[in-house]
Amino acid sequence: MPKGQRINFSSKLAVVAAAAGSAVGLGNIWRFPYELGQYGGAAFLIIYLVFVVLIGMPVMLSEFVIGRMGQSDAVGSFKKLAPKGKWWLIGVMGVLTSFLIMGFYAVVAGWTLEYIYQAVANQFVNKDTATLTQVFVDFCTDTWRPLIWLFVFMIISAIIIMLGVKDGIEKSTKFLMPLLFIIIVALGIRAVTLPGGVAGLKFLFQPDFSKITSGVILSAMGQAFFSLSLGMGCMITYGSYISKKNHLSHTVVEVSLMDTLIAVLAAVAIFPAVFSLGINPGYGPELVFITLPNVFAQMPGGYVWSILFFILLCVAALTSAISLMEVVVAYLVEEIKIKRLTATIWVTIIILFLGVLASLSFGVWKEVKIFNMGFFDLFDNVTSKVLMPIGGLMISVFTGWVLSRKQIRDEISTHGRFPTKYYNAYIFLVRYITPIGILFVILNQLGLGRWLGLS
Ligand code: TRP
Repeated sequence: MPKGQRINFSSKLAVVAAAAGSAVGLGNIWRFPYELGQYGGAAFLIIYLVFVVLIGMPVMLSEFVIGRMGQSDAVGSFKKLAPKGKWWLIGVMGVLTSFLIMGFYAVVAGWTLEYIYQAVANQFVNKDTATLTQVFVDFCTDTWRPLIWLFVFMIISAIIIMLGVKDGIEKSTKFLMPLLFIIIVALGIRAVTLPGGVAGLKFLFQPDFSKITSGVILSAMGQAFFSLSLGMGCMITYGSYISKKNHLSHTVVEVSLMDTLIAVLAAVAIFPAVFSLGINPGYGPELVFITLPNVFAQMPGGYVWSILFFILLCVAALTSAISLMEVVVAYLVEEIKIKRLTATIWVTIIILFLGVLASLSFGVWKEVKIFNMGFFDLFDNVTSKVLMPIGGLMISVFTGWVLSRKQIRDEISTHGRFPTKYYNAYIFLVRYITPIGILFVILNQLGLGRWLGLS
């Protein structure tokens, strides 16, 4: 490879697969359905879709523009584009955020491995909801078992990261993404045809707007952030691997559509079944791990479906975890000049350390509280409620107000090669709508929303 030329994803499909692999994860399949269940179904879905378009897509395009223009990692790209400013601190914050997200994300990903094991060992049959709840509680409050799965998950992620962008990320996502899609469509078809499943579809697609409060609106926006992997340099890092021949805005539309489609399909696979079996849709974060084994246990062919489902969940978590780790590894390799192998090992060790803290906060360290939260909740809350919204806000301000319009137009159109039909709309969004919208989230999360009379 000639000096100065960056490794690129080899084809358009690979770009979309890798970015969609990052976006589609536990956020879509574990978090989205339970939020939807808690916040009343269809109305939440509609608001979520509005945020994907008005905030998610502009921020994703901004991250791609910064990464591909800067041709560097999340910190290096800002240094190149604004050498005099302190904007690179956004990248540093992203690296930190990445560790913290992985600290709890890897724990939940480890749970998916336990549930693949339980599914294969046929442990869901003949158990009622109470028993399955107990099984889950016993498992996640145990000391060693979740830690072992956390360790296994991190080793798999580390191996893929070590192989590098082309061999690791590309090959794995190109193979894993279509597989994921096929399995979830099959699951959805099965769920919809269950007796009484139509009630679940009604819940999903017949909006009841009386359920919308400002709290619901703000949760939907937070979920859009998390699900699309935005606000901490993940898409900046992947953007730097996108070739100049690629049409950035098309990639944004494709990735956002795919991410949203998978989230909706996951909900279609879950809610008809939940309603068919008379389970409370507002169950919460346990929904996947407690309710679904129950669903599978009572459904024909449940043994095979349960194995497929938890493999699917684990695969989705894996491709997202890889993207989170790549933010840090790319930074260490390019800015601190550490070898990729060494960087991967250190990153894995630090995440394991944070993961142990998060995992034990369900069991033996339940009483250890910082800001009144256990480590798991702390990592989750600090990242999604503070760091990611601030990152997204800064990223949109940077593209909207610091980069010149000509720079952005040249990057999006690859110097006039592609049409820039929606360019003006994008600039308007990223200058005004997106930053103001995000500010709204941050204020609410600081509790100022109530003070200002917003919630
Ligand atoms: N989007 C992923 C999911 O839905 C998680 C994820 C990967 C992420 N990279 C990220 C979240 C960057 C925030 C920022 O599960």
